[in-house]
Amino acid sequence: MSTERTFSIIKPDATRRNLTGGVTKMLEDAGLRVVASKRIHMTKEQAEGFYAVHKERPFFNDLVSFMISGPVVVQVLEGENAMAKNREVMGATNPANADEGTIRKVYAESIEANTVHGSDSLENAAIEIAYFFKPEEIVG
Ligand code: CMP
Repeated sequence: MSTERTFSIIKPDATRRNLTGGVTKMLEDAGLRVVASKRIHMTKEQAEGFYAVHKERPFFNDLVSFMISGPVVVQVLEGENAMAKNREVMGATNPANADEGTIRKVYAESIEANTVHGSDSLENAAIEIAYFFKPEEIVG
């Protein structure tokens, strides 16, 4: 077990429905600590850069449009095994496949409007954290 940091986004479907607190409570109840948080409205360029790994996928343009359709809350989460723990509490990408009690099972509207993003590896967590936060904005 080791203390890790991972990256999370509360997506526009959740901010639109005023679920920032509800989602954050589920993260905190899972043992994750929010050590950085800010509400932003991503530019198209920012969203395209963030999801560059998906740029050849058929859903890329829709995904970028969705992610800039409203504000998001970007967060750094800290805790024991934070990356895996966050993925567990998020649930499957497609809410139809998400386990009971997960954020996406409780809140997600669709595979696109799926309420949260979470890093899928520690390597990507470090890249994604650095994409949105300066070191001094993260206070553990
Ligand atoms: P996220 O974890 O933010 O990473 C990429 C996102 O693409 C994913 O969550 C989904 O919300 C979104 N997405 C939209 N359509 C699809 C799809 N058909 N397959 C996988 N991801 C999709």
